[in-house]
Amino acid sequence: MTGTGELFLGIIAFAVMIMALIQVGAIFAGLRLARRVDQIATQIDTEIKPLIANLTAMSSEAARAAALAAKQAERLDRVFGEMVQRVDETLSAAQEFVTPLSVGAIAGEKPFTDLFDQASEFDVGHIRLARDNDLIVVNDGATPALGEITWVTGRVLDSRGQPIRNALVEIWQCDNNGAYIHSRTGNREKRDGNFQGFGRFLTGSTGEYLFRTIKPVPYPGRSPHIHYAIKMKGKKELITQCYIEGHPGNEKDGIWKNIKDEKARKSVTIPFAPMKGSKIGELAARFDIVMGLTPEA
Ligand SMILES: [Fe+2]
Repeated sequence: MTGTGELFLGIIAFAVMIMALIQVGAIFAGLRLARRVDQIATQIDTEIKPLIANLTAMSSEAARAAALAAKQAERLDRVFGEMVQRVDETLSAAQEFVTPLSVGAIAGEKPFTDLFDQASEFDVGHIRLARDNDLIVVNDGATPALGEITWVTGRVLDSRGQPIRNALVEIWQCDNNGAYIHSRTGNREKRDGNFQGFGRFLTGSTGEYLFRTIKPVPYPGRSPHIHYAIKMKGKKELITQCYIEGHPGNEKDGIWKNIKDEKARKSVTIPFAPMKGSKIGELAARFDIVMGLTPEA
């Protein structure tokens, strides 16, 4: 009996020891777990939270950038739309002043040309870089030219009235003070350095050209006019001028008077009228040019 009792007690003691050990192990495991939880919490604080803050900042930055880009795109769209509308309006306003096709512009051979200011004799210098179709602004100049802003448009047509593509339309005229960009120009000392004086436009499939320039002014001996040269591959260039309809100087202008045929004279004398919808008082003029009407000299 004693033997059995001892054995029983031994088993109990052993079980208690095992349980105690398990308990101790559990306490240690618990402590390790608590430490790990602590570490993770610290890691969350030191690494994850800043990361989240960064991501949040980045996403709001991205949102701001996207909003800015959208705003810029919208502005670009608006500006482009306005530009297209402006050109459309200009062309349709100018349409009101169409020179009848049957009349057309005559080819101005020598009688219609100032011999001294041919385009080929132009001074080079800054103008060489600025030969676009906007004569009001030279390159990126901040100050526009002096004068009444005029949109001059028209079509280059063949003798059957078909539009001519790839015709190079060149114009040149004096500035608002009557000075050309030319070494021998009159009024040299008054020359407006902000006027481009010369412009070029290559026609597309409609044969249409467009210049923004000033309403021509008189200079000693001449009624206001714009010089034109039309150049086409393999063809002799056409040189002519256009005049302002109703200008009193025309009747005294030797070159204008020398155009004896009234129909021909009318074809180069065009209205300069207020441009429809312009808030800044711009003018519009239309000058269609018909090639091949005047036999080549
Ligand atoms: Fe001239």
